[in-house]
Amino acid sequence: MKYYITTPIFYPNSSPHIGTAYTTVAADTLARYHRLKGHDVYFLTGTDENAQKIVRTAESQGMDPLAYVDGVVDRFKALWVELDITYDDFIRTTEDRHHKVVKKIFTKLYEQGDIYKSEYEGWYCTPCETFWTENKLIDGKCPNPDCGRDVELLKEESYFFKLSKYQDALLGYIKDHPDFIQPASRRNEMVKFIEGGLEDLCVSRTTFQWGIQVPFDPKHVVYVWLDALINYISALGYPDGELYQRYWPAEVHLMGKDIVRFHAVIWPIILMALGVPLPKVVYGHGWYLSKEGGKISKSRGNVQDSFELIRRYGSDAIRYFLLREMQVGTDGAYSEDALVERLNSDLANDLGNFVSRSLAMIVKYRGGVIPKAGEPTELEAELRALGNEVIAKVEERLEAHDPAGALENLWRLVSRMNKYVDETAPWTLAKQEDQQARLDTVLHTFAEAIRILGILCAPFMPKLTAKMFQQCGVGEEMLAWEDAKRWDVLGEGIQVKRGEALFPRIDMAQFSVEEEKAPVSEVETQKIEENKVEFEPIKEEISIDDFAKIDLRVAKVLHAEKVEKTDKLLKLEIEVAGKPRTIVSGIAQHYAPEDLVGKHVVIVANLKPAKLRGITSEGMILAASHEGVLEVLTLDKELPAGARVK
Ligand code: MSP
Repeated sequence: MKYYITTPIFYPNSSPHIGTAYTTVAADTLARYHRLKGHDVYFLTGTDENAQKIVRTAESQGMDPLAYVDGVVDRFKALWVELDITYDDFIRTTEDRHHKVVKKIFTKLYEQGDIYKSEYEGWYCTPCETFWTENKLIDGKCPNPDCGRDVELLKEESYFFKLSKYQDALLGYIKDHPDFIQPASRRNEMVKFIEGGLEDLCVSRTTFQWGIQVPFDPKHVVYVWLDALINYISALGYPDGELYQRYWPAEVHLMGKDIVRFHAVIWPIILMALGVPLPKVVYGHGWYLSKEGGKISKSRGNVQDSFELIRRYGSDAIRYFLLREMQVGTDGAYSEDALVERLNSDLANDLGNFVSRSLAMIVKYRGGVIPKAGEPTELEAELRALGNEVIAKVEERLEAHDPAGALENLWRLVSRMNKYVDETAPWTLAKQEDQQARLDTVLHTFAEAIRILGILCAPFMPKLTAKMFQQCGVGEEMLAWEDAKRWDVLGEGIQVKRGEALFPRIDMAQFSVEEEKAPVSEVETQKIEENKVEFEPIKEEISIDDFAKIDLRVAKVLHAEKVEKTDKLLKLEIEVAGKPRTIVSGIAQHYAPEDLVGKHVVIVANLKPAKLRGITSEGMILAASHEGVLEVLTLDKELPAGARVK
């Protein structure tokens, strides 16, 4: 099956931002999904360079328009690399291959009488590159709800395209093809708009020269929207290019809601006039809005540097957030806080925790080697059924161009896996001689689930999949969508490799510009006290209830390292009650990090987290100290990490 998907071509009058990145990330997700399904995918993006506003921006910066757009186009391409966008072609409308096709189409439409010469008198909004009649203006300004800027009066000789002639044919087509404009709310808007009556469209300008010349009347340049829409076929080499024969009609044109009108009215009419089949779907998603409510856009001055965001959080987290927060038919709310919240809850907590817990147990109980599964029980059967149900839903949502719905469903499996870990309690099975086959089944199920989740995440977060596959010892050649439906792919003997946390939890404060002063740790304070008196005086009496408030637990040290630029602090990754935690402790002068790894220590587990050198410390390790000697409390029998100390 062939699958041709496009994004709008972007105006390179300013750098791309999170709002403009959404369509491209969503299109990439769909392209990756279809490639994984084995379809013949072609994914097109590009830039819309012949707009009047480009000339104005370039001139305002004293630059030649082409030199100016070259610079911005490089920024777009660099961002797409950073976001792992796998487009097959990037079309620039200043390219000769595009000019040729536009000229050919304009001439053909003129020769067959669909384009005619007349005079335009009316208004033009340059930021929107849209013609408006007087009666549509609101208080004399652009009526586009996102714009409202000044319009200019035009009176010039122009060519017109006979939209009116095709009005009934277009309405008929939309009625016969209910899936053509999606989602349904946008279709209804469009039907109303067309029923209101289509006027012929002005399709040339004479007051500037930047753009594509009308071949038979060179003082005219082609109206930028007519020119831009044609990119979807000029990039394929219309009319006789091999790519055109192979991929047209497009499966879907993805875009923001503001430009559906151009794609659902002007574009199909151009194609009808040319006798070319229409794209199967025109899909209009919502906008990303800022905290204050307005659309994220350069002109509103509310955009953040996308490159900096990727540097902070990684491209997968940005992709996940953008895809997850844009619900069908509505707008999405963007803020950095919301991004961090999603990252911490869905990625670090839910998915990251499951992977790190389950791999830790394969390492602990089977030396890191995936065991052969024993007989599955009802629990595993239920898991498989849920897995298949989730995959069917993910497929259905992706077919409906709804990545948010797909991810929401996918996370049902992630949550179920975390529950499965708790239900099967491998730490208990590990201690029972007669439960070793059962433990094998559980650990094997963990590994299969990591592999399956890795496949299902691949369209959304490609770097994550690579890490998950690597950690559970699976090669990239095993990345095949259909294999996500099987739980018996991994043979015995595969070595897992625990790596860095997939998504470390983020503390927003770590990005504050001011360097934080590390508070003195409890242990350090204690040491200062000890230097003053031989023994610290015994504290005042407390009740048993007071003591009961302190939750002391056995914890296992998984990893330890020195905190940079300090000589006292160690950062410890510990495991307690099946979950990892970070504790910063002032014991670096008493223990080498490697001496602590594997030790079972005692921690205050319900201590309010505190920040030390920008790291959030989630608890405190108990240690005894006297006269400069410090000893961490350890257990000599191996009680499981999580056991209560009272
Ligand atoms: N050049 C035209 C498209 C021509 S397609 C033949 C154009 N370019 S644009 O750069 O202004 O916008 C490109 C796309 O980015 C549009 O689909 C628009 O909806 C989308 N977005 C711009 N800001 C956005 C958000 N804040 N949120 C989501 N999408 C946003 O229009």
